[in-house]
Amino acid sequence: MKNSSLQTMRWHIGSSTDIYCFGGYDMAKESVQKKTNIVLIGFMGSGKTVIGRNLARLLERDFVDTDEEIEKVTGHSVVQLFKKFGERRFRSEEELILKKLHGRRGLVIATGGSMDLENHNLEILKEDGYFVLLQASLDVLQERLSRKNSRPLLGKNPDSAKIQTLLTARESQYLALADFIVNTGELTVEESAKQIAEHYRALP
Ligand code: S3P
Repeated sequence: MKNSSLQTMRWHIGSSTDIYCFGGYDMAKESVQKKTNIVLIGFMGSGKTVIGRNLARLLERDFVDTDEEIEKVTGHSVVQLFKKFGERRFRSEEELILKKLHGRRGLVIATGGSMDLENHNLEILKEDGYFVLLQASLDVLQERLSRKNSRPLLGKNPDSAKIQTLLTARESQYLALADFIVNTGELTVEESAKQIAEHYRALP
């Protein structure tokens, strides 16, 4: 099979993607690997949404932001959902989105900052996903998070002690999931996305 350069193979991967490979097995194998999802994880304000969008553009992939999906499906903003129906409802919406994403390939996915904490939800994406942890210092996170009042768990102008407490509780779980880590505090959005893209492209 390896040398049959004109051979066309159709690979069925997951539910949504057919990959057509012209050439031998090696090429097919490479294509399969390049179709794997890139999953961005990390604390609120670490840059998952903006960097994810940029990364998807660089790699010419579809981009999914789980919070935005929840907002589309429910017709409520994340803030409204928490306020009207409580955190539990929000968490169950997160779980539904993850189930929908299972089996899809070739995506860049930005997750909500606490998606994995209670139910190990993100394990669903692990088999097809390359997990990139975005980090930033406490000062950078605080500065970014005080720009917008869109995180119900932190409220307006969160103080650093509040951020640090949540961060400490979560950090080990983020690290346990991460395949690659980027410190976004020292880079622009474009630089962060480029660093991830270059690293990912160089993977075997
Ligand atoms: C949350 C993070 C938010 C959003 C919700 C809860 C959290 O997403 O899912 O406000 O508890 O970390 P971002 O990480 O994109 O801000």
